[in-house]
Amino acid sequence: MDKNKLRSSNWFGRTGKDGFIYRAWMKNQGTPSHEFDGRPVIGICNTWSELTPCNGHFRELAQSVKNGIYEAGGFPVEFPVMSLGETLLKPTAMLFRNLASMDVEESIRGNPMDGVVLLCGCDKTTPSLVMGAASVNIPTIVVSGGPMLTGKHKGNNIGTSDVWRLNDAHRAGAVSQEEMQAMESGMCRSAGHCAVMGTASTMACMVESLGLSLPGNAAIPAVDANRKVLAHLSGMRIVEMVKENLRMSDVLTRAAFENAIIANTAIGGSTNFVIHLLAIAGRIGVDLTLDEFNNIANNVPLLANVQPSGKHFMEDLYYAGGLPAILKELHQFLHNDCITVNGNTIQQNYEQAACYNTDVIGTVENPFNPVSGVVVLKGNLCENGAVIKPSAASAHLMQHTGKAIVFEDIDDYKIKIDDPLLDIDENSVLVLKNVGPKGYPGMPEVGNMALPKKLLDKGITDLVRISDGRMSGTGFGTVVLHVSPEAAIGGTLAVVLDGDSITLDVNNKTLQLNLSDDEINKRKAQLPAMNILQPRGYVNLYQQHVQQAHLGADFDFLRGCSGSEVSKDSH
Ligand code: FES
Repeated sequence: MDKNKLRSSNWFGRTGKDGFIYRAWMKNQGTPSHEFDGRPVIGICNTWSELTPCNGHFRELAQSVKNGIYEAGGFPVEFPVMSLGETLLKPTAMLFRNLASMDVEESIRGNPMDGVVLLCGCDKTTPSLVMGAASVNIPTIVVSGGPMLTGKHKGNNIGTSDVWRLNDAHRAGAVSQEEMQAMESGMCRSAGHCAVMGTASTMACMVESLGLSLPGNAAIPAVDANRKVLAHLSGMRIVEMVKENLRMSDVLTRAAFENAIIANTAIGGSTNFVIHLLAIAGRIGVDLTLDEFNNIANNVPLLANVQPSGKHFMEDLYYAGGLPAILKELHQFLHNDCITVNGNTIQQNYEQAACYNTDVIGTVENPFNPVSGVVVLKGNLCENGAVIKPSAASAHLMQHTGKAIVFEDIDDYKIKIDDPLLDIDENSVLVLKNVGPKGYPGMPEVGNMALPKKLLDKGITDLVRISDGRMSGTGFGTVVLHVSPEAAIGGTLAVVLDGDSITLDVNNKTLQLNLSDDEINKRKAQLPAMNILQPRGYVNLYQQHVQQAHLGADFDFLRGCSGSEVSKDSH
């Protein structure tokens, strides 16, 4: 295809029967003929769904994007893709991230669009859309839905991170069911995604620090009029991006990925960031490994005092200057010449930013917390790696040796955890197996296992917890996640027994099962053969092709980019 020719002209620019068919059916929507005069056709990839409440306002947001596209002389076409709602979708939204990405990829490639705007909100709706679009690689801009307003209950702030504390308090008898229900009504009081630095906010910061969105995208509350302004401006900008042929691969360079890792460290972003960023890198062909994360963000402190690592909310972060103010403070760490979707470098984008509240955004000299980021652990219990978020963990457990209490799977945990006979104390290490990508399957967010009631009653609020699963970005605790290889494929995690000694040493970035290699190998040889493969359907496909967490849990056959060419033309 001629490089200067728009992709969409291969549909709407045709004469004869084919052009007739392509245009005629579009006209049943009231589209006038002049829309097919060769102007850029811009897809608006919409994850609106009433079953994804965090994205429930996306039809309005799409209208703002459309207004911008029309204003810039483009032709907007909105299309739905699979929407993954974190709260309702069972068994876990992560099981369907790769499926949704396939929907996005094929919808973009197979349809007449020259550029695309991705409407992303709830956790998995960002990586799935970015992954799918990266495998097509046409001009692409992300518009995030924005966080909810800060929740309020009886004069106090309340957000998703409080759900875990409330659950513990409820189980300990300190909070009644009636009080819980009253809080439900105060927490999610506006449109938008979780109002803390959970995975959705982390993903919004990720796309902004990668350069995939306009500056300021991450923190503007969903219901702030400036969110619609940003959507409108993004609609205008994507039309220009098509004219400039500024594609995803021009923005998503290795240096941009390093910027995202640095920014994630400074915001106290979710552990899920690691798994999604690795998957996106795999799609766009950037060589990035889990082992590199520690070094890339070395010496970057935690600047954002936002839950779950701090006390404030995304709304506060917006008023304090948003991500641009954080990026400006990080100038000495960043690759400042990375190009972003508006055609400016990341430095040009943050140059005018300012911090308006140093209690919300600290400085490098005086950070909110020198302990930051996601630390990648290595050791015989996680040969290919595991992760922990020290800023959301307990300082006294950063170096800890304790005896394992093992749960073979999540059901086993549920049965045993409140058993009065469970031999557990504050030094115990909870080990949960078979919640990894293949084993569960889908790697659910169950890694921050609630503590047993009898320890809560004693005032103990944290234990070292280890699993091959994930944790909500809103969660906290001394929680080791993403252990790879996972138990279900015979990783060392599979052979841990009750009473085994385990040492977590976050300072030295190690996780050790204190047994000899001989003993571990002997136990591995005795592991019973497990048939975890589901007999049919998407889950069967998932189990056969999902990669381990340290590779981003993408499907092996989805890594890489197939480009935007359509392989066959049936008309
Ligand atoms: Fe959607 Fe938290 S449940 S962002």
